[in-house]
Amino acid sequence: MTQPAPSPTAADAQRAFDSREIDAKQGAFAIRGPLLWCEGRPTGGQGLDDPQSGLRQEDDGLLIIDGGQVVEAGPAAALLARCPALPVADWRGHLLLPGFVDTHVHAPQQDVIASFGAELLDWLNRYTFPAEARFADPAHSAAAMGRFTDALLAAGTTTALCFATVHDHAARHLLEAGAARGLQLIGGAVWMDQHCPPALVVPPVQSAAETEALIADWHGRGRAQVALTPRFVPSCTPEALRLAGALAARYPTLPIQSHVAENRAEVAWVAALFPEARSYLEVYDRFGLLRERSVYAHCIHLDAEDRALLAARGASAAFCPSSNLFLGSGLFDLQATLAAGAKVGLGSDVGGGTSFSALRTLGDAYKVLALQGQPLHPALALYLATLGGAEALGLERTGSFRPGDAADVVALRLDRGPVLARRAALRAAPLDRLFALMTLGDEQQVAGVYTQGQLRHRDDR
Ligand code: GUN
Ligand code: ZN
Repeated sequence: MTQPAPSPTAADAQRAFDSREIDAKQGAFAIRGPLLWCEGRPTGGQGLDDPQSGLRQEDDGLLIIDGGQVVEAGPAAALLARCPALPVADWRGHLLLPGFVDTHVHAPQQDVIASFGAELLDWLNRYTFPAEARFADPAHSAAAMGRFTDALLAAGTTTALCFATVHDHAARHLLEAGAARGLQLIGGAVWMDQHCPPALVVPPVQSAAETEALIADWHGRGRAQVALTPRFVPSCTPEALRLAGALAARYPTLPIQSHVAENRAEVAWVAALFPEARSYLEVYDRFGLLRERSVYAHCIHLDAEDRALLAARGASAAFCPSSNLFLGSGLFDLQATLAAGAKVGLGSDVGGGTSFSALRTLGDAYKVLALQGQPLHPALALYLATLGGAEALGLERTGSFRPGDAADVVALRLDRGPVLARRAALRAAPLDRLFALMTLGDEQQVAGVYTQGQLRHRDDR
């Protein structure tokens, strides 16, 4: 005898009729709500109402998705008249943006966030290296990479360039965890063979062999890519830099990630290690590590010649304002870097950075730039956190709502917390609301996250 079905609760009934559950698993569908996205780097006046080239916005928009990709974005009324039978996930009352792109984050450093009282080199020795050494335990590594990728998704970050640790298994756990959540992760094991605890030293020949095996197993598998990851000049012997350069030459389109000119003591150390080099950045260039798809975090203490070199090589800067404030590293000059022609994306740099949230990071970016007389327009802020990041990483179908782009979408709520709710209610224009969100918001505003059209995270209760 079959059991009678349990009677649905009010909450079940509510869920059954909630159109926001619709996603790519049902086939073609659409997402409705205020849309804001970039199709180029916005340029325009400093006022919020000044026209911005490159910025697109629809106050009542529709994003049509099929096969995990954007088909079209435009005004809801016109598109629904054309496609009346399309299932619609209704996110009106939210703000819909392309999923965030984090161009610099350390997967093993979640437990390092909020470590007191140190600048970069001391912070690495006191907190970061011990935390990374714990990843020698595969069980710790697998669990931590799960927590890390959960945190990315919950923050609305759908693409990220990530450092793992020196351990090969940690890089594999990272890419596996990202794939399981539909994220577009680019990552690799860290190269480090000096100036760190012995437990973290890996001979460069071993790093090269392991990175090559990782490329064979993971580069281009689903959305995953592998990045060559020499930590920074002081932790790599000349032999390690030489082998990294040789690997880069063998894989000319492989992403590369490292750090440069973050902290004055670090810059002085590199000058002592390479007295013949014109600058810290130039050391990377000597070894063939400065090129398209190479992303250098921080780029604070650079001069005009360095910025010109960064641009000439087609390399990118990861602007990490939260970390730069927290570690007292200095102020990134966005205007000078963009004027030189270099690509720039936004980086959380967790755990030097204190938040996974692109909104919170943009709030810090605004303050770093305000100190330099460069108020960050929300249109440019949006670009840095989405399309600009994708361009910095050399990803063509990411960070926007152009036809053919991956349907990575974040839905932000405007009503959590009375202060933000009041501010958002005062002025309804999406760009103005984005400025309120980046000033007052964080991951608590993330109500839904789609990766390739699949609803992977939902928290709008
Ligand atoms: N430079 C070298 N390693 C690191 C790191 O883990 N974090 C930051 N912020 N800078 C670094
Ligand atoms: Zn970093």
